[in-house]
Amino acid sequence: MKELVLSQEEISAIVKDLANKLEAELRSEEKPPVFLCVMKGAMPFYSDLVKEIELDILCDYIQLSSYEGGLSSTGRVSMEKDLGENLDGRTVIIVEDIVDSGLSMAFLKDHINSRFKPKRILICALFDKICARTNGVKVDFCGKELHEAKFLVGYGLDYRQLLRNVPYVFVPDEKELAYWDSLDSGH
Ligand code: IMP
Ligand code: MG
Repeated sequence: MKELVLSQEEISAIVKDLANKLEAELRSEEKPPVFLCVMKGAMPFYSDLVKEIELDILCDYIQLSSYEGGLSSTGRVSMEKDLGENLDGRTVIIVEDIVDSGLSMAFLKDHINSRFKPKRILICALFDKICARTNGVKVDFCGKELHEAKFLVGYGLDYRQLLRNVPYVFVPDEKELAYWDSLDSGH
């Protein structure tokens, strides 16, 4: 490990803080808001977050892909699974692991707006890599801002689909990356 970015304790404090802010924001919604999990990366964060929200909410998920397992985004976003709820007239909270270039979030907002007439769309992300943004996407609720282009793994964030189950977030070193490469190529 090159650097521990968030420990389990830090993650849990961030999740509680974000849940409090979201509750305050959403307390007087007419219709139950929809918390939309962006699979697969946001899965652990989403699961911890929704358990802290003491409001009537709907849970839904969508699966996008842009990284294809490697160290950087392909620049193309594809949808692997579509969402199921009707979002008309509701506030939608997109729950994402990390907003990097912003392409995935721009794609998802366009997709939602093309199918539904939501009341508004908010983005809640554990990490905001603001230094990597290539468009005007803004994170409304952010766990931790990143000002350097680091590659992170753990707590949903993957390298070659591995490490999503690790309960903390870290920057891997070259040796670790080479080891995970070897697992994938079957050596
Ligand atoms: P964007 O479309 O460039 O904003 O990319 C967003 C997606 O890329 C996120 O949902 C993550 O799944 C993935 N991603 C971005 N940065 C990292 C990282 O540091 N580690 C692992 N996955 C990442
Ligand atoms: Mg993601």
